[in-house]
Amino acid sequence: MTTANESVREEIRKLTKELKEHNYRYYVLADPSISDREFDRKLKELESLENQYPEFRDPNSPTINVGGEVTKSFNTIRHDVPMLSLGNTYSREELFAFDERVTRFVGQSVTYSCELKFDGFAIGLKYKNGKLIQALTRGDGIEGDDVTVNVRTIRSIPGTLHGDYPEDLDVRGEIFMHRKAFEKMNEERIANGEKPFANPRNSAAGTIKIQEQDEVARRPLDAFMYHVIGHEKELQTHLHALEKIHSWGLPVNEFSETANSIDEVWNFITKWDKKRRELSFDIDGVVVKVNDYHLQQELGFTAKSPRWAIAYKFETERASTRLLSVSYQVGRTGAITPVANLEPILLLGTIVKRASLHNEDIIRELDLHTGDMVFVEKGGEIIPKIVGVDTNLRPENAEVVQFITKCPECGTSLIRKEGEAAHYCPNEDHCPPQIKGRIEHFISRKAMDIDSLGEGKIGILYDNGLLRDSADLYSLTFDQLNGLSKTIENEETGEQRLISFREKTAEKILEGIEASKAIPFNRLLYGLGIRFVGETVAKKLASRFKNMDALMAAGREDLIAIDEIGERIADSVIEYFAEETHREMVERLRNAGVQLEAEETQTAVSNELEGKKFVVSGVFVKYGRDEIKDLIEKHGGQNIGSISAKTDYVLAGDKMGPAKLEKAQKLGIPIISEEDFDKMING
Ligand code: IVH
Repeated sequence: MTTANESVREEIRKLTKELKEHNYRYYVLADPSISDREFDRKLKELESLENQYPEFRDPNSPTINVGGEVTKSFNTIRHDVPMLSLGNTYSREELFAFDERVTRFVGQSVTYSCELKFDGFAIGLKYKNGKLIQALTRGDGIEGDDVTVNVRTIRSIPGTLHGDYPEDLDVRGEIFMHRKAFEKMNEERIANGEKPFANPRNSAAGTIKIQEQDEVARRPLDAFMYHVIGHEKELQTHLHALEKIHSWGLPVNEFSETANSIDEVWNFITKWDKKRRELSFDIDGVVVKVNDYHLQQELGFTAKSPRWAIAYKFETERASTRLLSVSYQVGRTGAITPVANLEPILLLGTIVKRASLHNEDIIRELDLHTGDMVFVEKGGEIIPKIVGVDTNLRPENAEVVQFITKCPECGTSLIRKEGEAAHYCPNEDHCPPQIKGRIEHFISRKAMDIDSLGEGKIGILYDNGLLRDSADLYSLTFDQLNGLSKTIENEETGEQRLISFREKTAEKILEGIEASKAIPFNRLLYGLGIRFVGETVAKKLASRFKNMDALMAAGREDLIAIDEIGERIADSVIEYFAEETHREMVERLRNAGVQLEAEETQTAVSNELEGKKFVVSGVFVKYGRDEIKDLIEKHGGQNIGSISAKTDYVLAGDKMGPAKLEKAQKLGIPIISEEDFDKMING
């Protein structure tokens, strides 16, 4: 083989591997590391090499596969009809070439349907006699994940159809999140010390794979259906099909239009490229389909996509500017976020001065040097992202960006935990932004709601040595507060603002702090900022343990026994209370008079189960698991986490683990069913 040939073979091998990797990141991890456009460019490059040298083509080349692999945690099910992707283009010429191919093939000009291309992820729904029986993700196009339980939580997707629907209906569409809902969710995640999602698409894709259905239900997902399988004879045209499925109750977007020529298609595209920001959700292009089903069937499919459709993708807004420096922010959990400081540039109507860099790996992948000209993109994201570097314009002697090794605020050596991408400052007790961040969290609306202390006031109290932890709030006095002041500079605008505490302010602050003493225990618990203890987990802990002392005394097993509390949360709670400084802070909170007891919401119903210890396991039909556990307690019984000689009953539902079953049998503990339990509590 000539060396030239060998280098082509190597290039094909390299591109194939790289693209498979990107497919995996995009479809399975929902965490792409390059832009769609960059991906498409590479794919085309590979396609053209493969065409010239078909002998070097990998049999599983990403130019044939639809993409991705299947995540293992959900049942994997074969699609009745493969879930294909579409051919796509960014250029007007290619769009017109598509029209030429189509008209040549069918021998006449055709009517197209023009639709928005929703930037979410694809879903296939199956209805039988009007009932939703299955929802599958695309997966690798051949097999997908069964996410029916999660899809049932999406309000716009009906569980039951109405009208003259057919006995069997397979429809496909896109699940997505509205931008506002996404932003709100991210704010909550940041407040909980969780990593925010990069954009609405990732957050929708991440959500659908969550195993806890009620968590999915809390995330605001929506959907549009855009493809009906079969029924060509009755439905006749694509747009008529969309009208019909809409009449059966399925969500369909209102902005689809017919176009009688490719020029009209182009008008639709340019109109929506301009108007897309008026929509409440992200679109990344327009999908053009031959409207007539009969003609669609004539045109048929290539190995990977229909010949009767094409996706025209909008350019992502991109600009190039200079990287001035990288600075590092410390969050309340100690996580370090690198931020790129850029020469200001106009992008999508706003001036961009910073871009998020996420973590050290990303800086390395980009091979960033100070002074580099970088490409900044703003897709659905709020914070723009650096997607590449123009190495041709790199200044001479430019220095590579080295991730810091010491905390920029307190100088402590940073750590990076195994398997995590972020660096942390471990000095949680003395690192100022961590302390201030925790107190900010404690007073936040969903925690102790001391709004009289908002707008940077915590920083002033901290700087004056009045606050070192949240419990210190309760020993503040009027004399300490009255007259304090500080000038604060707005980092973005450079504007200066004087914040001063007059008599009124001081009084208000003290009133707010006093009022917070009545805030329920679960919100106080959330306010402590224990890692992974968000609002929902805090509520669960408060309602199970009833008070702080019981929670502090709880062992790992007791915690894991609670529904949806896994090892990660349990360990975090235990670690938190093992810390002497935290126990001591809780004592000061207790002396201050905050609520460390849950309000009694459960009223006893009977004492049928007095003194009986239950282990609940498996899935139930009539009751939810939490509901069953509540019932046990309301009837005087007690829930315990694991089976031991002290267990009185194992209440077994469907899918109880075999190990538990064996243990119960070995110890001779009665295993009762949901019906048995019903009889016990109902006399
Ligand atoms: S039609 C066989 N219509 O974009 C035809 N797809 O790049 C099925 N998408 O796989 C697809 N909006 O996940 C179609 N109005 C729309 C769409 C749409 C978004 C997604 C879908 C598809 C991908 C193609």
